[in-house]
Amino acid sequence: MNGSESDDLDHLFSETVRETMDGSVYGAWRSIRDAEAVPLSFGFPYPESFPNGELVSAAESLFEYEGDRALQYGGGEYADTLPEVIAEQARDRGIDCTTAQIHLTNGATNAIDTVCQTFLDPGDAVFVEAPTFMGALRLFRNYDVDVEGCEMDTEGLDVAALADELAAREAAGAALPKLLYTVPNFHNPTGVTLSADRRRRLCELAETYDFLVLEDDPYGQLRYEGAEPPPIRALDDAGRVIRANTFSKTIAPGVRTGWIIAEESFVEQFDRINAGGEPSYTRGLIARYAEDGRLDRAIEELRAGYSERRDRMLESLAERMPPGTWWSEPEGGFFVWVEFPEGVDAEAMLPAAIDEGVTYLPGSFFYADDGGTRNARLSFSHASPAEIDEGIAALATAVRAETPALEADD
Ligand SMILES: Cc1ncc(COP(=O)(O)O)c(C=O)c1O
Repeated sequence: MNGSESDDLDHLFSETVRETMDGSVYGAWRSIRDAEAVPLSFGFPYPESFPNGELVSAAESLFEYEGDRALQYGGGEYADTLPEVIAEQARDRGIDCTTAQIHLTNGATNAIDTVCQTFLDPGDAVFVEAPTFMGALRLFRNYDVDVEGCEMDTEGLDVAALADELAAREAAGAALPKLLYTVPNFHNPTGVTLSADRRRRLCELAETYDFLVLEDDPYGQLRYEGAEPPPIRALDDAGRVIRANTFSKTIAPGVRTGWIIAEESFVEQFDRINAGGEPSYTRGLIARYAEDGRLDRAIEELRAGYSERRDRMLESLAERMPPGTWWSEPEGGFFVWVEFPEGVDAEAMLPAAIDEGVTYLPGSFFYADDGGTRNARLSFSHASPAEIDEGIAALATAVRAETPALEADD
């Protein structure tokens, strides 16, 4: 059957799919992906960071030790130990955590989806940072909820503005959020980190206004400088913070393994809702790989590789970008957020930038509503340091071509 015939079956899609399927953003995403240019667009790890050889050895020793149990339903002993590996990591970061408070997922995306399935009804209000992770926005759209963007600044979510908004909503009898989704460390897309004081205040607001906080922290262990604020979950006395995490950035996205840390009563529901899809072999493999401090050593190496790339991007931006350009200076993670000079539309400029030899993601992709027209997310995670420099040079050329008046003043 060819494509045009299958279009006739569109009426069989659910109402939510029919309402969201046009996906213009996805079309733009495609063209960026296919471009032959320095990829500063995607938050992919750089390929040499993958522990191919180590995973092969871990697989061999897993089969040696477990035999056929490694591939059986439920997996062998190593699969069972993964929650303890995760709980130990969490305790090291100040989170009081038992294995009964852990639900394993197929990555952080699946963790967010599981939280949505468990808590959200159509019409619920969900607060997100503006801008926020595109993947989360896409998931929230599937649940027919009202997504509301909250202001941010260089210290992350503007919690004082959030407090005002909540008070105003309460006074007006308007809907309060059921869930607030945040990426507190090296935020995607802006790279900024939520300050410790704001984390505390956020927990208080969740308590006062009766909502849950979903703390999505894929980048927290990839810190290249500065002190780490406590995870929001570590500051939560009321059980309202649900923490999502993943091995996508510390091992590889292809292992598709993540987890949720939350109250035991929540975990019981996550387990019930998601039963049957566990990739137990992969879980055993990760537990075997992580043994003897190997994962910690790998994270140290990743920090070196990424911080070199970040430094190169920041140096290159400082050297090459025209006046009137601002960018964030992340202490970790994968992303730098750029604000171009007045008059530049990042989405409109993208084809010219691709012709010059660089791709980026326009800021507008990261907003539930309008916003980010002058912004772009640049990822330093995938390209080599030399390519990053080349990409920023191409970007600077594209921006200068858009701002001839500024050049005249320069
Ligand atoms: C904030 C955030 N959450 C979740 C994900 C996806 O993680 P996973 O690959 O584990 O689904 C990403 C990765 O791009 C991310 O930046």
